[in-house]
Amino acid sequence: MLSDAGKALGISALAGIALPHVHAANSNTIQIALVGCGGRGTGAAINALSVTNGPSKLVAMADVVPAKMNSSYDKVKTQFANQVDVPPERRFLSFEAFRNAMDALKPGDVVILGTPPAFRWPQFRYAIDKGLNVFMEKPVCVDGPTTKRMLALGEEASRKNLKVGVGLMVRHCRARQELHRRIQDGQIGEIIAMRAYRMGQGGGTSAPTPAGVSELSHQIRNFHAFLWASGGVFSDYYIHQIDECSWMKNAWPVEAHAMGGRHYRGDSLDQNFDTYSVQYVYPDGTRLFFDGRNMKGCRDEFASYAHGTKGSAVISTLVHTPGMTRIYKGQKIPWINNRNQLPFAPDPNLAWAFPQPETSPYQFEWDDLMDAIRNDKPYNEVKRGAEASMVASMGRMAAHTGQIVTFDQMLNCPHEFAPNVDKLTMDGPAPLQLGPDGRYPVPEPGIKTDREY
Ligand SMILES: NC(=O)c1ccc[n+]([C@@H]2O[C@H](COP(=O)([O-])OP(=O)(O)OC[C@H]3O[C@@H](n4cnc5c(N)ncnc54)[C@H](O)[C@@H]3O)[C@@H](O)[C@H]2O)c1
Repeated sequence: MLSDAGKALGISALAGIALPHVHAANSNTIQIALVGCGGRGTGAAINALSVTNGPSKLVAMADVVPAKMNSSYDKVKTQFANQVDVPPERRFLSFEAFRNAMDALKPGDVVILGTPPAFRWPQFRYAIDKGLNVFMEKPVCVDGPTTKRMLALGEEASRKNLKVGVGLMVRHCRARQELHRRIQDGQIGEIIAMRAYRMGQGGGTSAPTPAGVSELSHQIRNFHAFLWASGGVFSDYYIHQIDECSWMKNAWPVEAHAMGGRHYRGDSLDQNFDTYSVQYVYPDGTRLFFDGRNMKGCRDEFASYAHGTKGSAVISTLVHTPGMTRIYKGQKIPWINNRNQLPFAPDPNLAWAFPQPETSPYQFEWDDLMDAIRNDKPYNEVKRGAEASMVASMGRMAAHTGQIVTFDQMLNCPHEFAPNVDKLTMDGPAPLQLGPDGRYPVPEPGIKTDREY
């Protein structure tokens, strides 16, 4: 048993202690279960089966929506006929399905958690109990209490020598890794400001629950609309760029000051703002200015930049991949608005650019995880994933309350959005209920100041 001081040291306290090597008991084949068979879960399963360092097989699937399960199964089976062995009796459909799917694995196999973020902690809890390695999508938590829970579970997973990947795939992008090395080398000097933009044509809206569909099922299907399910578009969409900028700065911001508003939500019953503008403050006073917008007819941008005392850098160019990372002399970074502007026009200020084409980081994150599993390398991204999720929550809460929110305030904020998420039943009530006006509660900055709704 580790002392409290030992626990505070995290994984490093375990260095040198012999831990059981958990991987693919009795066979070289790593079995995989997919929990949450939507777009990303299916993509992750494909990436997992594409890793070439040893045999792997998809053996179980879990979801709550039959159509999602069926289309996911068909897609993966079409591409990997010999690596998919999921007969109907190992395709599970219910809130308990994640347990059934994990029960089909052996210690050392891998479970993919691709459900909406709210379900991460109970599913991770069960995976640890079963001795499974885990790949979980981001965000891994949506509020203070679930952050603390995930941090504790992450430590427990390390004590069992489980390998855990978190879907902040940009951290595995070779172009961003090379940029990070060059920034540490001093090639743009000290970072004094960063900017990031995730501006698109919409997202996170929700129509009223259709007749014949349960409110819970509707909220889960539209999880970006509801803070309990996903942390909203802020957490779900913006986390990557907040994380990649913080990585380049080698620090987490200590406070956030933010604003935003609901201008054109119309009849949508969601809890998001149309616009978010956040100032994140790092320990040395450096700022990250993050702008998010979900609005039709406005200019799109999906990019992240760092400005240093000797030059500047592009961390993301158009979307997450390819990164097309670059370093410029001085501070003049040309706008790249769309792919028609590629390849880049000659620029006398361009000091370095990562060579194209790039392999997708969605594949690298799986190559790295499977390498750690097969070769028993320390690998647990939960602390970083929980902190990134928490920092996203901090910016979101600052915008939603109209207050400055610090890292410690967010971590210790007692408002848990869905305390009973591990006990939900298909026909039971949803964590968020309509008010007397027939609408769900929304953030009201300056009015609701110590909780988001
Ligand atoms: N890393 C990335 O770039 C990236 C990209 C997209 C999505 N994601 C993340 O992946 C997760 C899923 O997003 P998505 O776009 O695939 O959504 P999706 O709606 O396509 O998939 C979610 C799936 O989970 C199922 N599900 C919901 N609750 C469940 C439960 N309790 N038990 C079992 N199954 C359940 C849904 O029916 C659905 O099939 C989110 O956390 C999202 O942020 C990450």
